[in-house]
Amino acid sequence: MAGRRHHALLVLAAVMATSCSLVAAHLMPRGQEQEEEMPVIPDMMMRPKSLPVPPVPTRTVAEICRGTSFPELCTATAGKQAARYGTVDVLTVLQMEVDALGERTKAARARVDREAAAATPAGRKALHQCNSFYGDVMDNLDACRRAIGHKDAVTIRSTMSMVAQDLQFCDEEFRKAGEKNPLQQFDQSLGNMSEICRSLSNMIVVD
Ligand SMILES: *[C@@H]1O[C@H](CO)[C@@H](O)[C@H](O)[C@H]1NC(C)=O
Repeated sequence: MAGRRHHALLVLAAVMATSCSLVAAHLMPRGQEQEEEMPVIPDMMMRPKSLPVPPVPTRTVAEICRGTSFPELCTATAGKQAARYGTVDVLTVLQMEVDALGERTKAARARVDREAAAATPAGRKALHQCNSFYGDVMDNLDACRRAIGHKDAVTIRSTMSMVAQDLQFCDEEFRKAGEKNPLQQFDQSLGNMSEICRSLSNMIVVD
């Protein structure tokens, strides 16, 4: 026993200049001589670089959209934005839907430009009005994004009411002009998307 300790101390002195892992190996009991040849990796290096992420119950966009007034439209429009976001919860789907609303509003404005060329003077005036209502929609979407950041469901709903109202105002301009609204498809889908945002805002859990 004493001899072995003496041996170990000698070895310790001999390997002072070498790594600690080698020391650890040489201090091992005789019975483990096989393992002595193997490099001893310090404990810290054996730990995985990042701890495994505990499993979080994840929901899909479709699952969250199921609780809204237009589940299919929600999944189709919000889903398109999904790649920009990591985890999916009510707030991220709401952000996605607001992004989708913004994209669709931009598309409606591009349509305004195309329609204006061939429009009657009254039609052109209505298109011009609609374009400014769409500008209002964009402002309300920005306000909505800020409200999402604060989980402020009341403000989210009021921005969506204003969006829906702007779309109705656009429709009204064409009624007043006695013309068919060439933006009707846009106004309807945008209106339905604002309803989706409203439903999603009702699902926000404030902790
Ligand atoms: C919007 O919703 C109405 C029902 O409220 C539906 O008739 C219409 O087809 C929907 N339009 C779009 C473009 O989603």
